[in-house]
Amino acid sequence: MQGKHILLGVSGGIAAYKTPELIRLLIKQGAEVRTTVTRNALQFVTETTLQTLSGAPVYSDVFAAINEHATEHISLPEWADLMIVAPATANVLAKCAAGIADDALTTTLCSCMAHKPILIAPAMNDKMWENPAIERAVETLRGFPNVRLIEPEEGLLACGTSGKGRMPEPDVLCEHVLAALTPKTMQGRRVLITAGPTVEPIDPVRFVSNYSSGKMGFALARECLRRGAEVTLVCGPTALHIEGYDRQLTYRPVQTAQQMLAAASEAFPESDLTILCAAVADYRPASVAQEKLKKQPGIDTMTLRLVENPDIAATLGRKKQAGQTLVGFALETENEEQNALGKMARKNLDFIVLNSLRDEGAGFGTDTNRVRIYSSDGAKKDCPLARKEAVARQILDGLTT
Ligand code: CTP
Repeated sequence: MQGKHILLGVSGGIAAYKTPELIRLLIKQGAEVRTTVTRNALQFVTETTLQTLSGAPVYSDVFAAINEHATEHISLPEWADLMIVAPATANVLAKCAAGIADDALTTTLCSCMAHKPILIAPAMNDKMWENPAIERAVETLRGFPNVRLIEPEEGLLACGTSGKGRMPEPDVLCEHVLAALTPKTMQGRRVLITAGPTVEPIDPVRFVSNYSSGKMGFALARECLRRGAEVTLVCGPTALHIEGYDRQLTYRPVQTAQQMLAAASEAFPESDLTILCAAVADYRPASVAQEKLKKQPGIDTMTLRLVENPDIAATLGRKKQAGQTLVGFALETENEEQNALGKMARKNLDFIVLNSLRDEGAGFGTDTNRVRIYSSDGAKKDCPLARKEAVARQILDGLTT
């Protein structure tokens, strides 16, 4: 979002308290943010907060005594790459659908409507959301080519009841903005990604695993989703999650390598691009104890017998059909290039992405990575150290160029 201009419209619902955080997240992503508000919005969030965080005056009054904002409802939309209205109250939704412009926010929105991408995040009580007049306004807005509605979530509402009407959290809204600004270069493509560690049980309370956080695989999945692909994410246990792509994302959580192989094999025949990012345990305990293993008094060593796990990459490599692209990762500590190229050939991969643990900032658990991409036709691309989000973009660009 570097250098992108985001215009945020805030209307008067309790969810307005989340918008300062949204501004912070958008700016963290490199965007410039300007705000326009309804008078009621200022009951929930102050002009000072919005102005301080965005670093720009808040457009709140069409007829401000000081005339510096005289044509802001025209110049702000011209400045903006995208407008997001969050929260959009029932009142603003209905006005927007009808083309009514009677304050700073709605006049700005009105002049944006035909020219710029617009995201609208309705938030209200569930009874108001079910009002047929609001339903009709929502339907009307769905028909506008530039407008995308961000569906309200089910959950606890400000009035104490539970139902549909919550505005999604700021990180989800920020993701919608990112997706809306990303060119849909992967529209219609189906992508399978494995991510995270596998966990191989020893007994009901212990397991063999590794330090993989899943961050690289999740960053790749998110970038594919932003580019319009349909993604199946087969993932070992991690604390990560992806929200905001209900229709595009199939999430298949697994524990063991065998479960990962089963889930990946199921999705593989339909996949155009498969990226195997998971740190799969090469071996698993030969047997899983039904009861917790007890310490044996007087015995100071213990031997755990391991058997080999299936190699998911090699299995899929054998099944690969023309038109399918298979990408593996190699995390190496020595003879990096030679080992990576060997793996690419052995597993019948089209590309291999090499991480060297000798590179500072690369590898498990970090937020950054530095990779080299090798293709089976002999090409090689060096990517500079970057945050995993940026590395995901470099990798996906590297697979197509
Ligand atoms: N991989 C896999 N299934 C396995 C082991 C690895 O799908 N059982 C995939 C990884 O997701 C990665 C690539 O194969 O894309 C290379 O993984 P790595 O662990 O580096 O390779 P190994 O073949 O296990 O080699 P080694 O452990 O000897 O380095």
